[in-house]
Amino acid sequence: MSKITFQLNHKDVTIDIDPTKRLLDVLRHDFKLTGPKEGCGEGECGACAVLLNDRVVNSCLVPVGTIMNQSVVTIEGLVASKQGQLLQAAYSKEGAVQCGFCTPGMLIASHGLLLQNPHPSDLDIKIGLSGNLCRCTGYNMIINAVKRAAKEGEGLW
Ligand code: FES
Ligand code: FES
Repeated sequence: MSKITFQLNHKDVTIDIDPTKRLLDVLRHDFKLTGPKEGCGEGECGACAVLLNDRVVNSCLVPVGTIMNQSVVTIEGLVASKQGQLLQAAYSKEGAVQCGFCTPGMLIASHGLLLQNPHPSDLDIKIGLSGNLCRCTGYNMIINAVKRAAKEGEGLW
């Protein structure tokens, strides 16, 4: 066991834990943050995506021992922000949510993309969300949602 301190949704937290435990499990089981989902468990689907120092990572691939003193933002943290709320509203207005399983990861990836590129083209959005799989929407509505958020959130990212 090791004591790991990191920032979780902008608050300092410390946990005594097996450092090889996956960040996804620590978030869901130890911190009861069930927004990040387990899809594939092997880095292919993006359902477990979180921001690590403002970069999108698949938390199923991150051993918690590697995140000492770093900043983790989950979907719970993102939707508490103006950007998160705007993204949520844009997804809703564009009909970009069906079963919703991919949505937490999609919103995290969308935010991560807009942080890097506040005015993405369709191709930029496709590339930015290429690590996130959706079985329901066919992706076009998700692309439209990100375009809407970028437009309506001018200046926020
Ligand atoms: S569960 Fe992590 S990428 Fe699929
Ligand atoms: S809305 Fe069902 S997987 Fe994306």
